[in-house]
Amino acid sequence: MTQKPVKLFIPGPVDVAPEILEAMTQPMVGHRAPEFSVLYQDITDGIRRLLKTENAVYLSSSSATGLWEATVRNVAPKRTLCCVNGAFSSRWHKTVIGNGFTADLLEVEWGKAITPNMISEALKTTEYDLITFVHNETSTGVASPLKEVSEVLRDFPETVFAVDAVSSMMGMEIEIENWGIDVCLASVQKCWALPPGFSICIVSEKVLARSAKAENKGYYFDFMEWEKSNQKNQTVVTPSIAHMYGLQAQIKRIESEGMDARIQRYATLADMTRSWAAEKGQSMFSEDGYCSNTVSCMKNDQEWDLVKLSDDLFEKGYRFSNGYGTLKGSAFRIPHMGETTEESLSKYLREIDSLT
Ligand SMILES: Cc1ncc(COP(=O)(O)O)c(C=O)c1O
Repeated sequence: MTQKPVKLFIPGPVDVAPEILEAMTQPMVGHRAPEFSVLYQDITDGIRRLLKTENAVYLSSSSATGLWEATVRNVAPKRTLCCVNGAFSSRWHKTVIGNGFTADLLEVEWGKAITPNMISEALKTTEYDLITFVHNETSTGVASPLKEVSEVLRDFPETVFAVDAVSSMMGMEIEIENWGIDVCLASVQKCWALPPGFSICIVSEKVLARSAKAENKGYYFDFMEWEKSNQKNQTVVTPSIAHMYGLQAQIKRIESEGMDARIQRYATLADMTRSWAAEKGQSMFSEDGYCSNTVSCMKNDQEWDLVKLSDDLFEKGYRFSNGYGTLKGSAFRIPHMGETTEESLSKYLREIDSLT
């Protein structure tokens, strides 16, 4: 049965452009054949160009959650500081603990950002060799100040700075080397606007040196194995070649839009959403000054019936995003990532207007 077409206004997966879906249906190639290596190199070079990085780029046929696990297993930290301000950062903390490592929480209320001062205070009292940091908390619409946090970490060159850029990569400014980011990971179903189930990991020499010494890393996520294959422009295991075709096509599209223009498009859409929310009397759930440019989270001050709104929007061909987890009913989200334009967002907002 084919699903009736709906416009996805959820913060991932997002709608995928028809030409990308088409690119994904190209005939298969063998993953040890020379034509695969050409595809692999084209993609990894493209990602390096877009992110202006010289670091190793790995492609994983897992979602980003796998890369949280890869990070902690390859770094094998003595003590980790997990910055937690929402559902995903909390899950990363659980992943660290679940892999048998010791971690402290730097936890703030949902809706708040993790600030440089908080990190600086935590580093005064305890030595950490890994910090996990979610740039853009998709559950709360909070973008923590990555650049400013990275400035604090300049004084701790031994500490591995691992950044979840799942809902910010290709949507917000990230300078990997300048900001000392050792692991920068993302799934592809957000600002990359590809189908879910694939992820990208950019890793520094520092992490590879740690991985070389780490024990009990398992096999699937061992960066030493990944690097050996990377040298041959291959992946260790049989990858999702369909995703790679999609990624290759999307890199070209993003380059033709221009990275700065893309970041500006999301910033404009975020402004539009925030102004609309203010007009509707719905205040932002995310802390002032830290509202994300890729997903907005509003408090439901007007006490709209969000289940009914969601059902009504579905009838009109849209998937609406209620608040995440315990925020259901009291908050809601409007994403502005992927292929969203001023026109498509404005149409969606008018639909909500007509129902509220
Ligand atoms: C910030 C953030 N990190 C991690 C994840 C997990 O990504 P995945 O479900 O692709 O593993 C998500 C998913 O929405 C996310 O928003």
